[in-house]
Amino acid sequence: MKQEIMTITANRQLAPRIFELTLKGELVDWMDKPGQFLHIRVPQADLLLRRPISINQINHTEKTCTIIYRTEGQGTLHFAKLKAGDTLDVMGPLGNGFDLSEVKENDTVYIIGGGIGIPPLYELSKQLIQKGAKPIHFLGFATKEVSYYVKEFTELAPTYLSTDDGSLGIKGNVGTLLDEHLMSVSQLPQAVFACGNNGMLKKVESLFVDKIDNVQLSLESRMACGMGACYACVCHVKDDLTQEKSVKVCDDGPIFKAGTVIF
Ligand code: FAD
Ligand code: FES
Repeated sequence: MKQEIMTITANRQLAPRIFELTLKGELVDWMDKPGQFLHIRVPQADLLLRRPISINQINHTEKTCTIIYRTEGQGTLHFAKLKAGDTLDVMGPLGNGFDLSEVKENDTVYIIGGGIGIPPLYELSKQLIQKGAKPIHFLGFATKEVSYYVKEFTELAPTYLSTDDGSLGIKGNVGTLLDEHLMSVSQLPQAVFACGNNGMLKKVESLFVDKIDNVQLSLESRMACGMGACYACVCHVKDDLTQEKSVKVCDDGPIFKAGTVIF
């Protein structure tokens, strides 16, 4: 993990409340695993805690990386005001990232994402394709209006979409999308990678945990230090009847094998 004052080269709006921000700096040399995140200081004196945001794309040649964020509170609203040439104090890359070591050439891999869980899945899909694997994307948004990166994902691999109101893809959530898809296929994928809200992750876990060995879930948690020191982000380990064993989402995760933690 490193820390650097990185320079913003672009900060463009993709959809209502959704922005794509590009950062340039030496820190990019350290980024390589999809699913890792950056811990970014908000340049506003009264906001002490850094904000965790997933890495969306890494470009080692240009020494740039992108993040995609949705404005929620003061921190992300401040990010939205920044322009090319401004700087951000960035720590990272943090977290374990998705483990691609067991994925083999020609393996079918389901990539499943919902809402603001989708950004890290883009770099993941690109890296899986580089390995010769065959990803299939399942992406869910609230509405067409707040969807983003649909063209980008579609250009990489087959992409199935759902929206709550049916304005893009099927009407329903990612769970509905998966249920429908699974009825139409005779073979399950070799691996499943997912990032989204807990409800979506629970559905993914219930569908695949007993059937496929390589199911990885990226959990979201409120964080403070982001590097394993403060215990703000712990969750319990499954099948630990004493409830004494815990893991830290920031440091041991954010990616966990399905069936191993309670969330
Ligand atoms: P406020 O609500 O004002 O934040 C107040 C405090 O709560 C801050 O310390 C903030 O960090 C924390 N907080 C609020 N919501 C969350 C949350 N959902 N998760 C963790 N901490 C939170 N959001 C994106 O838009 N894009 C991403 O790619 C992305 N990746 C993430 C990766 C990880 C590993 C985690 C843990 C969270 C990620 N988030 C992402 C959520 C993002 O961190 C929060 O939306 C953001 O911190 C909100 O800050 P705020 O100041 O705008 O909101
Ligand atoms: Fe401090 Fe995870 S945020 S231990």
